[in-house]
Amino acid sequence: MMISEKMQSTLNDQINEELFSSYLYLSMSAWFQSINYKGFAGWMKKQSTEEYEHAMKIYDYLHEVGADVSLDAIKKPQASWKSPLDAFKDALKHEKHITECINKLADLAVEEKDHATNIFLHWFVTEQVEEVGNATDIVEKLKMIGDNPAGLFMLDGQLGHR
Ligand SMILES: [Fe+2]
Ligand SMILES: [Fe+2]
Repeated sequence: MMISEKMQSTLNDQINEELFSSYLYLSMSAWFQSINYKGFAGWMKKQSTEEYEHAMKIYDYLHEVGADVSLDAIKKPQASWKSPLDAFKDALKHEKHITECINKLADLAVEEKDHATNIFLHWFVTEQVEEVGNATDIVEKLKMIGDNPAGLFMLDGQLGHR
């Protein structure tokens, strides 16, 4: 195995974090669908697929470096929110948490002088800048819209084109 035991277990933990992200956004998608916001629902469903792909990137990397994949139980996600703003605020909070996880992983790679894993993680560091940026952008738009139905209708349509 080309990585340490500790790195192996932390990367396995991150697979779980990414799979939970996928589950959370799928739950948000189902909730948006249930209140007829099809654009928000579509956006969240795509996000869910992306998160599954993040998990698979780590899954493949572990195999590449001769480490073992060990899958843990995925936590049950929340099933409903108070408003679209409430849901996207949660998504933003979650992405900030994921950024922290990725930064800790990157710290560990540096600490262990694990150059290969460090470089592997660069993609995730960049991805998190994008994820937090996108979520912040939508939260800010939803704050501006407030309770205005026309504004919500427009943003729903816009996000549906993602
Ligand atoms: Fe992710
Ligand atoms: Fe992304």
